[in-house]
Amino acid sequence: MNDANGFILKNAKRPSTGLCDIVVRDGKIASCGGSGSQSLPKGLPEHDAGGLLLFPSFIDAHVHLREPGFEYKEDIASGLTAALHGGFGAVMAMPNTNPVNDNAATTRLMRAKAQAAYPHGPMVFPVGALSIGLDGAELAPMAELLDAGVKAISNDGKPVQNGGLFRHAVEYAATWGLKVIDHCEDTQTAPGWQMNEGAASADLGLKGQPPLGESAQVARDILLAEFLDLPIHLAHISCRQSVELIRWAKSRKVKITAETCPHYLFLHDGMLGGYNTNFKVSPPLRALEDVQALREAVADGTVDILVTDHAPHAAHEKEAPFEEAPFGLTGLETALPLTYGLVREGIISLERFEDMWCKAPASIFDIPVNNFAPGDAACFFLFDPGLSWQVSADALHSKSFNTPWLGQTLTGKVVAHWQSGVKLL
Ligand code: DOR
Repeated sequence: MNDANGFILKNAKRPSTGLCDIVVRDGKIASCGGSGSQSLPKGLPEHDAGGLLLFPSFIDAHVHLREPGFEYKEDIASGLTAALHGGFGAVMAMPNTNPVNDNAATTRLMRAKAQAAYPHGPMVFPVGALSIGLDGAELAPMAELLDAGVKAISNDGKPVQNGGLFRHAVEYAATWGLKVIDHCEDTQTAPGWQMNEGAASADLGLKGQPPLGESAQVARDILLAEFLDLPIHLAHISCRQSVELIRWAKSRKVKITAETCPHYLFLHDGMLGGYNTNFKVSPPLRALEDVQALREAVADGTVDILVTDHAPHAAHEKEAPFEEAPFGLTGLETALPLTYGLVREGIISLERFEDMWCKAPASIFDIPVNNFAPGDAACFFLFDPGLSWQVSADALHSKSFNTPWLGQTLTGKVVAHWQSGVKLL
């Protein structure tokens, strides 16, 4: 008997409720209850989760899938395979493709490619460009992008310097109910920067960007959001100053939400000593005190969500002198083992871990998720928190493997993943 009409998953551990059994029928949750507490239907295939952790498929609200235009780094199919293995059932794909996703045709192409590669999910939610060509001069056609299926707009990778244009983007986006995601960077603060400015950049002889290169724009966005009383979502927050500003904004009920990435919670600028280009990322890895501030911000809710900023680059691009290598690192397959480490360290609860990767991004970007209620899409995965594995090009499913954790052993792995009731891993 196969699982096509349904199945039962027994003895799976949910964060707050303990062991449970789930009945899936026609790709949807039929029931979910404490193990042994419900009378299970007869005749369905049964699988034993063996007490492993069960999560609804997570959302990564910030990835670069590189298609169209840079398929040698990643394409939508390979990016979604990496997402599936990483525990993600939905990813929001940034618009710095070629052509830039500033038009309905490109948005539709991305969604069609995703649907063709994975008809049951994981799903791609494209993010539209804020400005045409990401040039920061003229607004992209938001209504057209919305109609084609974007969830948000952003100039990620090419931060908007023109405050007037950015204001109009926030106002028009609100008309359409679109979220604006801002890559906060004042590009005039330190043109040509390679890493964080501080003792480490002085040691290495690399041009540094001080944290204010980010936080000055964070301040601008907070003041703008308060002035307009409209929402702005701040991308990949990397430093203490930004955290303090966001905390202040939230105390004033400004409609600001923020994300950070695993690398800002586990790595710092003192680790660039070997000029390893897999540690070169924008915004840059900051000082240890910034890492500490971000961990506190994740724990107290100042930072709302976790994202990977998965930014694949080919080996020949990263195997270059530090100054010439592109910014970015891959993250889809290492994010959960790393951030589960925050649970292990007692920094966040298991419930908050799930919230930051699932319910919070779903609510910010209006993406449906599985709440294990009857009728919800049966999209979930099992996570073995004790399974150790080595990060290697062979172990990863992304086309690129520019991760700072290459060669290292991580503990925690997604071992099974269902999308709409279909077991894909
Ligand atoms: O490091 C980064 N890489 N930061 C960005 O904002 C863009 C990204 C990319 O597209 O490679």
